[in-house]
Amino acid sequence: MTKLIINGAKGRMGQTLITCAGRIPELQVVAGTDVGDDLAAHLAGCDAVIDFTLHHATADVASLCAAHGKALVIGTTGHNESEKAAIRAAAAKIPMVWATNFSTGVNTLFWLTRKAAEILGPGFDLEVVEMHHRLKKDAPSGTATTLLEILADVRKVQLAEALRHGRQGITGERTASEIGIHALRGGDVVGDHTVIFAANGERVELTHKASSRETFANGALRAAQWVVGRAPGIYDMQDVLGLK
Ligand SMILES: NC(=O)c1ccc[n+]([C@@H]2O[C@H](COP(=O)([O-])OP(=O)(O)OC[C@H]3O[C@@H](n4cnc5c(N)ncnc54)[C@H](O)[C@@H]3O)[C@@H](O)[C@H]2O)c1
Repeated sequence: MTKLIINGAKGRMGQTLITCAGRIPELQVVAGTDVGDDLAAHLAGCDAVIDFTLHHATADVASLCAAHGKALVIGTTGHNESEKAAIRAAAAKIPMVWATNFSTGVNTLFWLTRKAAEILGPGFDLEVVEMHHRLKKDAPSGTATTLLEILADVRKVQLAEALRHGRQGITGERTASEIGIHALRGGDVVGDHTVIFAANGERVELTHKASSRETFANGALRAAQWVVGRAPGIYDMQDVLGLK
C-alpha cells in the first residue's frame, strides 16, 4: 500500500487525482492539502507527495519532502530558473518524478518527436502549436516546452536563441534555425499539442489531444507507486514507462 498526500487537492488536477486514486486498491490518499494547510503536519504519515499546484509553491514542497525523506511527484509546470534550482537541490536527498506531462500518449509523442526530427533532418522547419483551456496560467505549456527542448537537442541549438514566440509585424523571412511556438487559449480544452515539420513539398504533423485529466492523474499515480524506494535523484515519465 502506497500512502499519498495530494498537494493542490482543491484544484482541477488535485480533484482528479483523488478520484482516480480511489479506484486503485494499492493506493491510499492520507491527506489532501491546499493553500492554508500545513503540509509538514501530514508528512509523517505518507510515502510520497504529489504536487499539482502553482510554480512558486513547488520548491518549498520539495525541501519539506527532502527534510522528511519522502518521495515526490511533481506535475506543476511554469517554474522559473531559481525555482528549478531549488527543486534540483532537494533531489539530492529524495527520489522525484518530475514531468511536464504524465500521459502515456504524450510520452509517446515525445519519443516520436525525437525520432521524426532525427529522420527528417535540417531541411524541415520546426513549429509547435499548443492549445489549453482559458483558465491555464502559464504559457507556453510545460509539455510544449519539453517538445521544444527535444527539438533543440536534436538540432544541437540553444533553445533560448532558436525560439520564436508567435510572430507579429514585419518579422522578415523565417530563418532555418528558428523553432516557433504558438500558445492558443480558449474554452475547456484539456491539452492539445502539435509538432509541425514543414519542408518544400511536404509537411509532417504529430498531434496529441487530451480529452480528460484522468490520463495525467493516472500517470502521476503510477509514477508515485514507482518512485517510492528509488535512489535519490530526478526521474521522468520516460523512466517510469521504461522508454529509456
Ligand atoms: N504534468 C502534467 O501532466 C500536468 C497536467 C495538467 C496540469 N499540470 C499542471 O499542474 C498545475 C495545476 O493545474 P490545475 O489545472 O490543477 O490548476 P488549478 O488552478 O485548478 O489547481 C491548483 C491548486 O493548487 C492550489 N495551490 C496554489 N498554491 C498552493 C500552495 N502554495 N500550496 C498548496 N496548494 C496550492 C490552488 O489553491 C489550487 O487548488 C499547473 O501547473 C498545470 O500546468 C500538469
